Amino acid sequence: MKAVLVHRHGPPEEYTVGDIEVPHAGPGQIQVRIAAASLNAIDLRLATGGFRGIVDLPFPYVPGGDFSGTVTEVGGGVTAYAMGDLVFGHGIPRAMAGMLPFPKPSLTTGALAEFAVFEADTPFIARRPSTLDVETAAALPTAGLTTNALLRQARIQPDETVLVIGATGGVGTTLLPAIKAGRVIATARAGDIGFIREIGATETIDYGDYPPGGVDVVINLVLPTDHLADAAKCLKSGGRLYTITFPPPKPEYIDRDDVRFEMVLDLASGVDAITGLTPSITRRYALDDGARALRDFARDHTVGKLVVVP
Ligand SMILES: NC(=O)c1ccc[n+]([C@@H]2O[C@H](COP(=O)([O-])OP(=O)(O)OC[C@H]3O[C@@H](n4cnc5c(N)ncnc54)[C@H](OP(=O)(O)O)[C@@H]3O)[C@@H](O)[C@H]2O)c1
Repeated sequence: MKAVLVHRHGPPEEYTVGDIEVPHAGPGQIQVRIAAASLNAIDLRLATGGFRGIVDLPFPYVPGGDFSGTVTEVGGGVTAYAMGDLVFGHGIPRAMAGMLPFPKPSLTTGALAEFAVFEADTPFIARRPSTLDVETAAALPTAGLTTNALLRQARIQPDETVLVIGATGGVGTTLLPAIKAGRVIATARAGDIGFIREIGATETIDYGDYPPGGVDVVINLVLPTDHLADAAKCLKSGGRLYTITFPPPKPEYIDRDDVRFEMVLDLASGVDAITGLTPSITRRYALDDGARALRDFARDHTVGKLVVVP
């Protein structure tokens, strides 16, 4: 079968699309014919060597975690799925098994391929409802789980002012339409302002050009957490700062003891709960161009989600 192949840790210019053996479903697993897969920052971080020494990737490594597709094989003991079921969800590389604190992580052979194998018994895989087309279902898992986790933790009130940093990305463009607040300030380059306003921002600002004050909630989707001191200055006393990036928050990063400063890393709820969200798919690639998709994701200014369709 055709797949995007990473031959060793390195930049996306070195990845290729080639033929490898079709993976088969073992006990407790399903094989899925991939209909669409979407790109996430972790795909690149794993492939470029960002977790070298922590995650022992087998090469050639097939990237890709978020997917939608059709069940084509059912392993022994699997009762939840049958051949022909339409599914979607998210998997992490098998080499990361046991690294995340989830009782039932979803492991995959890699979704940037014609076929991939996933664990069947995990909340990260579900039947695709007819209301979700294949591309939307592939774009949603990571961005949708993160959006829901942010909304749960931030408990934004309708009269609050929210600042979203990194609003143009895959997570940001899924989060913006879901924020119900009177004032939503979003970071955007000049060329993205119209789109970002269309999907929910009431105001836009340039990167780093934060308002002088008056913000109840800052949501950081992109800056390293130890680079948030300037962003924290715009918070009202008693405000909240949520981040989805590393390193984990420490009070000294923001030099304010009158605001809450928390990490959001809750991907433990199931993909069933994300089906009401709307991701923004802005680029589509054939699987033959899957390596180029990863290059564009790494090198171009991208907005929203990039989807690869075998
Ligand atoms: N904690 C979790 O559970 C979790 C879950 C998902 C993702 N993440 C992490 O969250 C981050 C964002 O994910 P994503 O999928 O949204 O990434 P993404 O699709 O790559 O989007 C990042 C966006 O932020 C913009 N940006 C870059 N620098 C900026 C700055 N200084 N100020 C404002 N915007 C800036 C980028 O535009 P440019 O082209 O201009 O750079 C891009 O549009 C990644 O680091 C990912 O690993 C964490």
